[in-house]
Amino acid sequence: MKYPKEYLDEIKTRLKVSTVVSKSVNLKKRGKEFVGLSPFKTEKTPSFTVNDEKGFYHCFSTSEHGNIFDFIMKTQNLKFGEAVKYLANLAGMQPYTFTKKDEEREKEWKQYSEIFNLYVEFYNKELLQNQNLNFAKEYLKKRNLTKEEVVNFKIGYVSSDANFYENIKSKFEEKIIVNTGLFYLDEKKNKYVERFKDRIIFPINSITGQPIALGGRTIKENNYLAKYINSPETPFFKKGSNLYNLDYARKLSNKIEYIYLVEGYMDVVSLSSKGIKNVVANLGTSLTDRQVSVLNQFYDDIIICFDGDESGYKAALRAAENLIKELKPEKQISFLFLPDKEDPDTFVNKNGKDYFIEFTKDKKIPIHNFILNHYKDQTKNDPSSLALFEKKLRSIAYSIKDEFIKKYVLEYFLEKISLLTPNSNQNINKNFYKKAKSLKSTQKYFNETKNLSSIEIKEFSFLYLIINNLNLIKENLNLLDNVKLFSKENKIIYESILHKLQNEENLNENSLSLDSQILSKISKFASIKHILNKIENDQFKIIELLQELIGDIKNYELELRIEKLESKFSKDLDENTFNELRELKKSQKIN
Ligand code: CTP
Ligand code: MN
Repeated sequence: MKYPKEYLDEIKTRLKVSTVVSKSVNLKKRGKEFVGLSPFKTEKTPSFTVNDEKGFYHCFSTSEHGNIFDFIMKTQNLKFGEAVKYLANLAGMQPYTFTKKDEEREKEWKQYSEIFNLYVEFYNKELLQNQNLNFAKEYLKKRNLTKEEVVNFKIGYVSSDANFYENIKSKFEEKIIVNTGLFYLDEKKNKYVERFKDRIIFPINSITGQPIALGGRTIKENNYLAKYINSPETPFFKKGSNLYNLDYARKLSNKIEYIYLVEGYMDVVSLSSKGIKNVVANLGTSLTDRQVSVLNQFYDDIIICFDGDESGYKAALRAAENLIKELKPEKQISFLFLPDKEDPDTFVNKNGKDYFIEFTKDKKIPIHNFILNHYKDQTKNDPSSLALFEKKLRSIAYSIKDEFIKKYVLEYFLEKISLLTPNSNQNINKNFYKKAKSLKSTQKYFNETKNLSSIEIKEFSFLYLIINNLNLIKENLNLLDNVKLFSKENKIIYESILHKLQNEENLNENSLSLDSQILSKISKFASIKHILNKIENDQFKIIELLQELIGDIKNYELELRIEKLESKFSKDLDENTFNELRELKKSQKIN
């Protein structure tokens, strides 16, 4: 007894070859493929490759070659049926039980696909050849579509007088024809009529390219007809599982890194006609996990680009909150928002392919950014609004299943939340610094300081304060314990001053014997100068100022260490690195 092709396809869709193979062979990624030591032969250099996109493995030393079923049969010495059971289980599917019903279903599927093939071919040919349908061709032309798209997407037109039922009723059983959802019973006339009558039809294909459903667009401008109708669910078409154009777009995944996910048929066809062929559509229904996980079999990087209107935005938000739960370290999901009233179709038609791609690079935002921005925009600066904001973001972060992504997103959210919390010390310092910078009066000065890093400017202030208060500092030398400067030049000066402070009495600016150029540079860029002048003899305030500067400098050191650890963490995703990072961040808040 044969397994239904659908069932086997479902297993293949759920399991990558690399997933199956890596259970017994250690694989390393090389470009779009994986390589490893052949399981069929003892060898030292890897000659065994796995290609997920093509769905097979190949062993160059033994010429063994096949799909996941072959692999399990060969390596585990199983019969086909046993291999299917093993893999179905691995894919989280119920074992297949053959019954008479299954045999029926298999037969039905064959006829179902045959009817769809005939139907799609027939109406595609009609649109291409029937002179009476010139108005439909005109419509497509107005929308910038050419014969090429009609051919590639097998677009058709079902005219108002068509009745394909008549053409096939002698060849197929009534029940089977009805199951396709292409016709419905007109009870008054007691006959089957076309569901897609008077519409342009877009065939929706299974992942292997077999048409299994249709979408139909009316080309009449009126309000009483639905603009689009779609096939009803059938035994072989389930909504929320398929993506329009995936059968084609999946083949591009070894050439292009990312895939656009759009809302509509016209968006896919238009982008394709302009040369952006890595695009699929979820067809109006809200995006499901299942659709994304199927897409992830081929692409690690998904760019969701819905219509630039309120409903597109809402759909994007819903999708983001749902999909972030399933995010995995190696996958990326981002969102691209188009200007108001544009959809991918109108936008690419106005601006062309290159602009669209540039626009994507400039404007796409990662899923967690989008969620954060959305809720931030809704938050007012009052305690209850801020509290709701934090609660919402925390609960979104906690919903993420992958532990690492969860930690990372939570870190990111909390950091952004802390920026909105006015009493965090960290912020006071930042704001203080920003204000100081914007007070600088002349453009010239601004241009000079622009080339200095913020820490350098702090260091100039620090040095300036010491140089001008040598005796006071000497009395409080312990304050300088563990203070490290970062810019090379400042570090040398600081060390020499420190040395003198520790070893000499009665210091004054001259006894430091510093280079006059260096001194004038310090004095020029020490933003603290004006404040110091004002508080000239208030020793208490001077010490306070010094402590504040030291706090900033130490904080900077911490920031540097955090930055290093963050980049380490993003590479090794190591629990210890993360914990160390968390500790550092805690101490940063105290400083
Ligand atoms: N849709 C649907 N039923 C509707 C409206 C829309 O199933 N009544 C689905 C269709 O798959 C459609 C998608 O939602 O392609 C997006 O809808 P919309 O943006 O309105 O259509 P467009 O794809 O932009 O089509 P057009 O440009 O032809 O108006
Ligand atoms: Mn549109």
